[in-house]
Amino acid sequence: MEQIELKSVVQDRYSAVAEGRAQCGALCGCSDNAELLAQSFGYTRDELRALPDGANLGLSCGKPLALANLAPGLVVVDLGSGAGFDALQAAAKVWPTGRVIGVDMTNAMLARARANAIAAGLDNVEFVQGDIEQLPLPDAVADVAISNCVLNLCADKDRAFREIYRVLRPGGRLAVSDMAWEVEPPPEVRRDLEAIVGCIGGALVLDDYVSRLTQAGFREIQIEKRPEMARAMIELSGVRPPPGVEQLFSVTLAAVK
Ligand SMILES: C[S@@+](CC[C@H](N)C(=O)[O-])C[C@H]1O[C@@H](n2cnc3c(N)ncnc32)[C@H](O)[C@@H]1O
Repeated sequence: MEQIELKSVVQDRYSAVAEGRAQCGALCGCSDNAELLAQSFGYTRDELRALPDGANLGLSCGKPLALANLAPGLVVVDLGSGAGFDALQAAAKVWPTGRVIGVDMTNAMLARARANAIAAGLDNVEFVQGDIEQLPLPDAVADVAISNCVLNLCADKDRAFREIYRVLRPGGRLAVSDMAWEVEPPPEVRRDLEAIVGCIGGALVLDDYVSRLTQAGFREIQIEKRPEMARAMIELSGVRPPPGVEQLFSVTLAAVK
């Protein structure tokens, strides 16, 4: 699929999800069990209850905050921030002197995220419209970049990784949760639009993920593979398992610029 076409399909679908007009219908959640799903990734009940209703749309595929090493005073960017699920939690962790910038290309998601920030009473988080492949941010602005279940949706992943590298300060940290494959999935998964929009059709093979991060300049890459999370996602979302599902897992990667 053409890159521009892919972007507009992803944008349409996530607008519909943000406005409550659609379910994803594949693995990146949109499940009725968003809280249970997040708990299976390691978010605690207290962390989830501290969020406004509707910040957790069940769109995540791991817990990047577990490897992000956040502390008060840090500047964080959340790439593909959705309704603010991780950005709001990050804002509380870096408060009072730190801040969070959520970037998302989908306006309806940004509107939800901004409303959620107000509902949470957080004034150290902002949400800006932009494409991860062309971030509307200056060089070296962030101490930490986080992302949850988004890079699989990016059409040009190398460009996205280079952009993330650019906006991190030297020594800055990337913590990303995503779906990944052990081996190349069956070609029909790569072609299936629902699988692409649902966070598995565009997911990288893990070795390829690591080599692209290395190519972008990242080092000290740390990998936490969680096959059981992919199983929980399938079970809780009620979707039909894709062909090759036994090779699919959730992964959280951390790396340093
Ligand atoms: C599966 S959702 C995850 C949302 C959020 N990270 C979470 O865990 O709840 C994917 C989000 O990434 C956004 N997105 C996808 N591709 C993007 C891109 N190239 N640039 C910016 N945002 C993107 C979508 O608009 C959507 O809000």
